[in-house]
Amino acid sequence: MGLRMSFLMFLSLVSFAPLCFSQRGSNGNLYPQFYDHSCPKAQEIVKSVVKNAVAKETRMAASLLRLHFHDCFVKGCDASLLLDNSGNIVSEKQSNPNKNSVRGFEVIDAIKTALEKECPNTVSCSDILAIAARDSTVLAGGPNWEVPLGRRDAMDASISGSNNNIPAQTNTFQTILTKFKLQKLNIVDMVTLSGSHTIGNARCISFRQRLYNQSGNGQPDTSLEQSYAAQLRTRCPRSGGDQNLFPLDLVSPTKFDNSYFKNILASKVLLSSDQILLTKNEDSMDLVKKYAGNNELFFDQFAKSIIKMGNVAPLTGSKGEVRKNCRRINN
Ligand code: HEM
Repeated sequence: MGLRMSFLMFLSLVSFAPLCFSQRGSNGNLYPQFYDHSCPKAQEIVKSVVKNAVAKETRMAASLLRLHFHDCFVKGCDASLLLDNSGNIVSEKQSNPNKNSVRGFEVIDAIKTALEKECPNTVSCSDILAIAARDSTVLAGGPNWEVPLGRRDAMDASISGSNNNIPAQTNTFQTILTKFKLQKLNIVDMVTLSGSHTIGNARCISFRQRLYNQSGNGQPDTSLEQSYAAQLRTRCPRSGGDQNLFPLDLVSPTKFDNSYFKNILASKVLLSSDQILLTKNEDSMDLVKKYAGNNELFFDQFAKSIIKMGNVAPLTGSKGEVRKNCRRINN
């Protein structure tokens, strides 16, 4: 090969290189086109199953969005959350944040079944969770984003990780922020992603303490609007009714919008972890106010922060596997 020829080949390689890299971009090894050749209908299939599920039950959008969060905060976005008990595996479904609370696993199963029919052994359960979270958000009226893909599935679960890493509604502001930072997420991500509480429900047991005895003095939380608290007490008594459900956003419970932030300003949110975004830190307070006044700002940042969350420690390349059944590892 002549010198000129190899120089031309070198030039063409160099000029194509940015194209290859730009696909992978800043999202580690994940990129939206991952299944374009191996399973071109993957995203369409996920969307149609999610759409049917949400048409049947509006709350499912919230439940699916939350699954992605509870997956990513434990060993990264690797679908460890979806594993049932078996052999050495202790399911994360039994952890404190998850038991009697996380839901939507049947919908994930239905998506997986449809995908296995179309392109067997190809689309990971962790990618299904990421796409379903996006589709759920859009169906509820929230922002859209391109989902970086190419995650693979874990071959083990971590109940201790689930108990320790997922923030609890009774945690202090600092503890919650520390748990986000552990995932390389910052205070902006924390406030913005908490905006997910614009849809879905919480159980009485998750906020009862605020209604009766917030700080051990037999008094309700002073940062909870009093008439709203009285209204909540009618269906969330001192004892009993633990599983009674309440909308996290009383104004527009099924619509993904910035009313959650307006509710915080009005002291009308269920969880202590929601209200302290206003009361315990100035940067966080500024953001709550900004989002309450500007829906577009909230939507734009939400898309950025959830992509960031979806990039937490994925398994890629030959790590992990593509599960055939999201509830158990392959043999
Ligand atoms: C900032 C720390 C967070 C805490 C302390 C927290 C805590 C909670 C609690 C206690 C519930 C109610 C559970 C129940 O009573 O059964 C809940 C529901 C929910 N959470 Fe969070 N959460 C946090 C952040 C997030 C994030 C980052 C997302 C999503 C990216 C999210 C999405 C949701 C959704 C959508 C629901 C409603 C689920 C349904 O109706 O099935 N949360 N959260």
